[in-house]
Amino acid sequence: MKKKVTIIGLGYIGLPTAAVFAKSGMEVVGYDINKKVIEALNKGEILIEEPGLEDLIKEVVSNGSLRGINVLEESDVFIISVPTPINEDKTADLSYVKSATESIINIIKPGNIVVLESTSPPGATMEVASILEKSGLIIGEEVFVAHSPERVLPGRIIKELVENDRIVGGINEKSAELVKEIYSVFVKGEIFTTDSKTAEMCKLMENTFRDVNIALANELAILAENIGINAWDVIKFANKHPRVNIHQPGPGVGGHCIAVDPWFVIENQPEGHLIRQAREINDGMPERVLNRIMSIVKNGNAKVTLMGLSYKPNVDDTRESPIIKLVELLKERTNYQISLHDPHVDKDRFKYKDLLIDSIDEAVENSELMVLAVNHNEYKNLDFERIGELMLKKQVFDTRNFLSEEELIKLGFELTLLGRN
Ligand SMILES: NC(=O)c1ccc[n+]([C@@H]2O[C@H](COP(=O)([O-])OP(=O)(O)OC[C@H]3O[C@@H](n4cnc5c(N)ncnc54)[C@H](O)[C@@H]3O)[C@@H](O)[C@H]2O)c1
Repeated sequence: MKKKVTIIGLGYIGLPTAAVFAKSGMEVVGYDINKKVIEALNKGEILIEEPGLEDLIKEVVSNGSLRGINVLEESDVFIISVPTPINEDKTADLSYVKSATESIINIIKPGNIVVLESTSPPGATMEVASILEKSGLIIGEEVFVAHSPERVLPGRIIKELVENDRIVGGINEKSAELVKEIYSVFVKGEIFTTDSKTAEMCKLMENTFRDVNIALANELAILAENIGINAWDVIKFANKHPRVNIHQPGPGVGGHCIAVDPWFVIENQPEGHLIRQAREINDGMPERVLNRIMSIVKNGNAKVTLMGLSYKPNVDDTRESPIIKLVELLKERTNYQISLHDPHVDKDRFKYKDLLIDSIDEAVENSELMVLAVNHNEYKNLDFERIGELMLKKQVFDTRNFLSEEELIKLGFELTLLGRN
């Protein structure tokens, strides 16, 4: 019999998930506390950017396989894909997960399946199960609960939802098996079953692996500056070893996953030394960049230009961006006149919009230092001849080893490189 699937939380993860379930022939309803999301959905429209999503939504809404609802109704499957942000004290904020779970207590019935998709600390799925006990049903026997973390890459979500392998961690084996069956309607990758805490830890460790490796590269950059060698050369040569892959250093780690998930791993775990240290090294990079800027620009009232603000190249997302932290440090601790440029970041949604300049010429005019903060494609072929004429001092600080040193030197620039003294 055709199953009815309810997706709770229709953001970057929930909406594409609803669309692919609907496309695979399930009856799907989407629920979100944001009424505008539901209003748009029922018109076949979306409020987020994701390639291919709008067309798919139009198709499944117009053929009746997906509809938005403002009041939750009975269903066979409930998938929770609400935010799991981080609190000030670096603990996971599970309030959205808890309230989403509470919202189905009165409508779940025997045979129902509840899946937590949100990235969560170990034990969160068990918490969901214990909240559901308030329904009076026997959880694990009458209602089945599992965690199935999402590992898609924004920009490729529709493709990766279908093609990636998936982990399903049940609160018991029966839950894992039933949830695997649900996802197998559209997942072409392999689906592995395990227990819920292992599944939670898997997702978190994927991002922690990357964070720790970036911290190692950043530590190398710090040591190379102290010792007087070039970290980028060390990385290039060391990576010739067939089993070595040192990552790239930079001005810090951002985004809502890599900079956040490691904290969930070590929540209430005093022995998570390496992971904590890695987070601290990466979080300390903006301050190192600030100190380096201050050692280059001695004039306290000089103009300093930052090129790039997003947490990674070629996106508009500034969540947890280390460059925003750098901007804040510059504002707090210096009197520099700061000018910012980013071809992707939307001025109207940006906190420091007064500092954000649309034209590169204007951003660098009379500046004493240009800091290449994000390696956007648009910055690969900057016209340094013109930039040199506009700047007050021809000084560039490349935090990504992205610019051509040969060209800059030829044009009379002084180049500072992160990871090289
Ligand atoms: N975006 C990604 O690239 C990505 C990748 C992997 C995992 N994740 C994880 O997936 C989860 C969801 O992330 P997202 O990026 O889709 O978030 P999002 O902010 O884009 O969307 C979440 C949606 O949930 C809604 N919501 C909040 N509380 C609700 C409630 N009680 N009931 C119904 N709706 C509610 C919000 O209004 C919002 O529309 C998070 O745990 C995130 O860490 C995200």
